[in-house]
Amino acid sequence: MTATIDTQTTPPTTHPGILAWVTEVAELTQPASIHWCTGSDEEWAQLTASLEATGTFTRLNPEVMPNSFHAASDPTDVARVEDRTYICSVDERDAGPTNNWMDPEKMKELMRGLYAGCMQGRTMYVIPFVMGHLDAEHPMFGIEITDSAYVTVSMRVMARMGTDVLRRIEELEAAGDDPQWVPALHSVGMPLEPGQADVAWPCNDTKYIVQFPEERMIWSFGSGYGGNALLGKKCYALRIASVMARDEGWLAEHMLILKLTSPQGVTKYVAAAFPSACGKTNLAMLKPTIPGWKVEAIGDDIAWMRIGEDGRLWAVNPEFGFFGVAPGTNEHTNPHAMETIRKGNSVFTNVALTPDGNVWWEGLENTPAEATSWKGERWTPELAEETGELSSHANSRYCTPIKQCSILADEYDDPRGVPIDAILFGGRRKTTIPLVTEARDWNHGTFMGATLSSETTAAAVGAVGVVRRDPMAMLPFIGYNAGDYFGHWVGIGKDNDAAKLPKIFYVNWFRRGDDGGFLWPGFGENSRVLKWVIERIDGQAAAVETPIGHVPAPGSLDIDGLDLTEDELAKALAVDVEEWKAELPQIEEWFEKFGDDLPAVLWSELDTLKARLGA
Ligand code: GDP
Ligand code: PGA
Ligand code: MN
Repeated sequence: MTATIDTQTTPPTTHPGILAWVTEVAELTQPASIHWCTGSDEEWAQLTASLEATGTFTRLNPEVMPNSFHAASDPTDVARVEDRTYICSVDERDAGPTNNWMDPEKMKELMRGLYAGCMQGRTMYVIPFVMGHLDAEHPMFGIEITDSAYVTVSMRVMARMGTDVLRRIEELEAAGDDPQWVPALHSVGMPLEPGQADVAWPCNDTKYIVQFPEERMIWSFGSGYGGNALLGKKCYALRIASVMARDEGWLAEHMLILKLTSPQGVTKYVAAAFPSACGKTNLAMLKPTIPGWKVEAIGDDIAWMRIGEDGRLWAVNPEFGFFGVAPGTNEHTNPHAMETIRKGNSVFTNVALTPDGNVWWEGLENTPAEATSWKGERWTPELAEETGELSSHANSRYCTPIKQCSILADEYDDPRGVPIDAILFGGRRKTTIPLVTEARDWNHGTFMGATLSSETTAAAVGAVGVVRRDPMAMLPFIGYNAGDYFGHWVGIGKDNDAAKLPKIFYVNWFRRGDDGGFLWPGFGENSRVLKWVIERIDGQAAAVETPIGHVPAPGSLDIDGLDLTEDELAKALAVDVEEWKAELPQIEEWFEKFGDDLPAVLWSELDTLKARLGA
């Protein structure tokens, strides 16, 4: 089967800046053809057919998963590559102690060498996209150039893209505005000789994921996977946008956004920052187990938040799809995600393929008698028992349109966003961190965020299960000096009316008991924690003051109908002074990294914590 993509000799825009950039990139990378993406259904059909032809995609059984595809990556290209990710600010100081840095001119020279001729034999796709709404006051445009049809198809799910975006840029330009757009260049880094057959997952051992913050520009090379390659997501909406947000007084955060309605019909909006693979998507689509409560999703990964005219913090989700962790997702843990996926129009990467043309992963119901693993090998439950071989990579993903989510809140389509009542910070910690703690005030909440810690996961290449500081769940995504970033958070508190800002909480669904099991059942039961949070904000729920903040008073967290005793709950909520004393040197060491760039108020928060712990 062969399939070709329509390529144009006449570009569909006369915008001089865009044309000049596309021409420059084409001259450098030398693609066989150029395709300007329209975002149409026909284009999707052509692209997915061409991906089937190269063996990248296997079409799933339309009876079970319509218009959906399975892909398996190269086994070396399965997650974000943090050690290959750079913030190339002009001044090294501006990248701070948490980012890799290289002089921008040196990096450009190095990467121009890699990009030279790198698209030979391939189609170059030009993807006009917008993060957030096309009709926002200042639409946040981007243009991704990529030589990957897989990336192009995934971008169509994850971002609003296509001809409409070009038209809007031209329209604003004609009206005398100067619409900015982020140039985002991506190549898998595997040119094809004439006649050379393609592989299912082209990539290169040499990888660079580079942000140039001053120029608001992204260059990515060598990887086709997720956050490395879908440049609107982590690279733009977090790394570049965090720099824009610093300069313009807003926040670009690694947060889900949800709408919570109580049995009395009172509505609240919650944003929550957890590191990658620590529960954002699950919480965003949570199905409450407590009667009468309702959760609607607005976003599962990224929140852009601005202070509104009313002094409140308003959040939008700039994305258009879900890029969710597959393993562990099932009818019990995330029924809404399952329902969203079943509507089809999705791409599944690095999960298992079943003989009846469906997908499967660890933790999903109906374990198949046999399947083809993400590595393309025969997999059976019996073999797995023997060898421990997983059918799906731990960071395997579903990529699904957000509009298919039946519990998507109407406010998702409002470019003004929603006013946030509570911000939760959370991580994955076996010990020390209670189920929920309320911050005393904004600065204390900023301290909680700045000292957030979590065990590493498969979402990034490297060791799994190692505790590290992951401030505001943004460690891999802060596009500038993290000391300045903390200062920016402190500044939001200082410059605004504290009474109108969200209240800040710290949660941990992952604390374990002596038997190694989770102390808290999690998932839908997390609605009980959300309920306590809302009742705190409304002055209804009781709390006890501890050295680290306010935790639920006995009886104030609703465990009605839950198979959990007050004693077990007490373990999940416990503040162990000795454990916290052991945490202090780690926090101190973390803060010392930032030298004079760390806001003084964070040192005084640490002093307060020490004094309260009697340390
Ligand atoms: P995200 O990357 O932050 O969006 O994380 P996900 O929501 O995709 O979840 C990552 C992993 O954590 C999945 O394997 C989930 O099953 C698991 N997880 C999510 N929420 C909970 C929870 O409340 N308790 C427990 N024990 N695991 C959870
Ligand atoms: P996430 O990130 O785990 O936060 O969804 C995905 C990625 O960056 O590839
Ligand atoms: Mn997620």
